[in-house]
Amino acid sequence: MSANTDWLERSRRAVWHPCTQMKAHESLPLVPIARGSGAWLYDFDGRRYLDAVSSWWVNLFGHANPRINAAITEQLGVLEHVLLAGFTHAPAVVLSERLAALAPAGLGHAFYGSDGASATEIALKMAFHYWSNRGQPEKTRFVSLAGSYHGETLGALGVTDVPVFRDVYAPLLGRNATVPTPDARAAAPGESARAVAERAAAALEAQLAAHHASTAAFIVEPLVQGASGMAMFDAHYLVRARELCTRYGVLLIADEIMTGFGRTGTLFACEQAGIAPDFLCLSKGLSGGYLPLSCVLSTDAVFDAFYADDAARGFLHSHSYTGNALACRAALAVLDIFRDDDVLAANRAKAVRWTALAAPLAAHPAVRNFRQRGMIWAFEVDTGRADFARWCFAEALRRELLLRPIGRTLYFMPPYILSDDEFALLASRTHEILDGA
Ligand SMILES: Cc1ncc(COP(=O)(O)O)c(C=O)c1O
Repeated sequence: MSANTDWLERSRRAVWHPCTQMKAHESLPLVPIARGSGAWLYDFDGRRYLDAVSSWWVNLFGHANPRINAAITEQLGVLEHVLLAGFTHAPAVVLSERLAALAPAGLGHAFYGSDGASATEIALKMAFHYWSNRGQPEKTRFVSLAGSYHGETLGALGVTDVPVFRDVYAPLLGRNATVPTPDARAAAPGESARAVAERAAAALEAQLAAHHASTAAFIVEPLVQGASGMAMFDAHYLVRARELCTRYGVLLIADEIMTGFGRTGTLFACEQAGIAPDFLCLSKGLSGGYLPLSCVLSTDAVFDAFYADDAARGFLHSHSYTGNALACRAALAVLDIFRDDDVLAANRAKAVRWTALAAPLAAHPAVRNFRQRGMIWAFEVDTGRADFARWCFAEALRRELLLRPIGRTLYFMPPYILSDDEFALLASRTHEILDGA
């Protein structure tokens, strides 16, 4: 028995894997990973896989990055963790200061969680509690986009519109509203992405005009709706959403859990619309893909609504690992790399080169809606295969690629440290896969 087989069999028995029908692993083997280096993951039998999805969109600067490793190792010898209620520590303070300085203006208060979904929960609870503290407890509802994804916990699922994740739990979820997505693929012939955005904004306006009195917040993934299939939209929608939320007294939550930290070309996607939300949710790339860490940045107005002598007016939410020192230190190392290597400028140049390298793929007869934004490339595959996602995943592994299509949408969301040669390999082997689709 190979080392791989031993680990995958033991894993199947002992580990309940996320986002997985476990029975599927009767025919589709798990991939045991022994180690990672740069953009590559290595199994126990010496095979390698190019991590073209940044391990669920978290990894920015490669696996086993020496600079992040060094920062965590140093922190490990000083302080691994201390509760953040009643205590504080340097990595949490400095990270909060630096995030506030980098984020759109006015977001000066950092509340920490662990995964992305815990950031969503924090933002939703804070938004509701804000209105309650201000004497408007009837503002209990949330609005999100069709095709939105904000995480798997019950509050987050309540503002998520991906049926396969949501439907079975529907009886447990809050009664929130969805409004049309500004997804540019919905353009009628001759219609611009901006016009689609304007059309969707008109629907948001109608929703808020009718229901603002019961609506606490509108939550949106700025510029790219990831989990429902990399739907990209015009920044104009965010400009309009900001204006409408302000006009109707509804808080704006920007879920930049996936789009943050350079993924869409700017540090935060909101920058491309020139807007500041009331809440900015961050996770994934925040710790460079090393440790579970999330953060919700909020405004003085929000913070001040909780600041009182009465304990119950405070935000009493917590997680044991809130503001974990190792995770905050990893995040500081990530911010250092952004600053010291001028990563955003380097990425802009890479994105141009990599899009050119992907041109033959974009021209493949099975490719539809080829699109790119920052360090995300996506397209739909015209295929008769009902099992395309699973088939493509297996075909990619055979060609040393880690690809995880979403339905018939295939995307690349690589670590930023990929070389041109590695991107060329990714594009050409994907082209080969499509020949069989
Ligand atoms: C936009 C967005 N929000 C929230 C989440 C949930 O994050 P997590 O999986 O860390 O709970 C995700 C995860 O993919 C996401 O893409």
